[in-house]
Amino acid sequence: MAHLSGDDKRRYVAEMFARISPRYDLMNSLMTGGMHHRWKRVTADLTGRNAVGPALDVATGTGDLAFALADCSNVTEVVGVDLLPEMLSIANRRRAAGSNYAQTVHFVQGDALRLPFPDDSFVGATAGFSLRNMPDVPSAIREMARVVAPGGRVTTLELTPMPPGIASSMGRFYFHRVVPLMGQLVAGERTAYTYLPDSVDYFLTADGLADVFRQAGLIDVGYRRLGFGGVALHFGDRAA
Ligand SMILES: C[S@@+](CC[C@H](N)C(=O)[O-])C[C@H]1O[C@@H](n2cnc3c(N)ncnc32)[C@H](O)[C@@H]1O
Repeated sequence: MAHLSGDDKRRYVAEMFARISPRYDLMNSLMTGGMHHRWKRVTADLTGRNAVGPALDVATGTGDLAFALADCSNVTEVVGVDLLPEMLSIANRRRAAGSNYAQTVHFVQGDALRLPFPDDSFVGATAGFSLRNMPDVPSAIREMARVVAPGGRVTTLELTPMPPGIASSMGRFYFHRVVPLMGQLVAGERTAYTYLPDSVDYFLTADGLADVFRQAGLIDVGYRRLGFGGVALHFGDRAA
C-alpha cells in the first residue's frame, strides 16, 4: 500500500492511524527502544534555537514533538496540527495531564498540505515521522516554509533508506521481519506495521529530501543521521 498516491494514500493513511492510535505511543517506544524521545528533543532544540516566538508541529500525532518544542526556552507557544481527531484526542489528554502545557500548547485539526495559518506565523516548524505518509512531500515542505517567518527554521525527522552495508541489512531485517510481528502482537495490526517499512523503501533518500528543502526556497539545508543511520533529521532556514 506504500505505493498509493493522492486521495487513495490520504484515505489509507487516515484509516490506518485511526486504528493504531491507542497503541501508537507504546509501539514507538518498543520499536525504537525509547530512542525516539531523544531524537525528538534534538529536533526541537535545533528548531527552537534560532529565534524567540511561537512554533508549529505538523502532523503532530499524539503531540511528542509539540511538547518537546514547548520545553525549549526560546519557544513561547506551540501549535500542533494533525489530520486525525483520534490522534489529537490523545494529544489533548496528554496536554491536560502535563501541568506545564495547558497555556502554551494547542492542538488543531488540519491538513499539512493546506496549513490553516497565514504566511510567516511561526519562528520554526517541525514534522516528525510523517512525510512518508503525505501524498505530496514537496507541497508539505513548501507549506512549512510558507508559515515560517524569515530567519526561522524548518526541520523534519523521518525514517530514511540507509546506505548499503551491514547496518542496512540488519535494519531491513528488523523493520521488515521483527516490526510487523511486534505490530501484530502489541497492536493487533500486522498490516500497519508492514506498511511502515514498505513506506521507507518508497521514500526519498536523505539527499533527495534535502533537495526538496532547497526547492522550497530554504537555505543552509543539511541533515544528520540518527539511530544507526536509519533516521534523518533535516533542517533548512528561511532567508532572513
Ligand atoms: C507516524 S505519525 C507521527 C506522529 C508524530 N509526529 C510523531 O512523531 O510521533 C504520522 C501522523 O501524520 C498524520 N498525518 C498524515 N497525513 C497528514 C496530513 N496530510 N496532514 C496532517 N497530518 C497528517 C497522521 O494522522 C499521524 O498522526
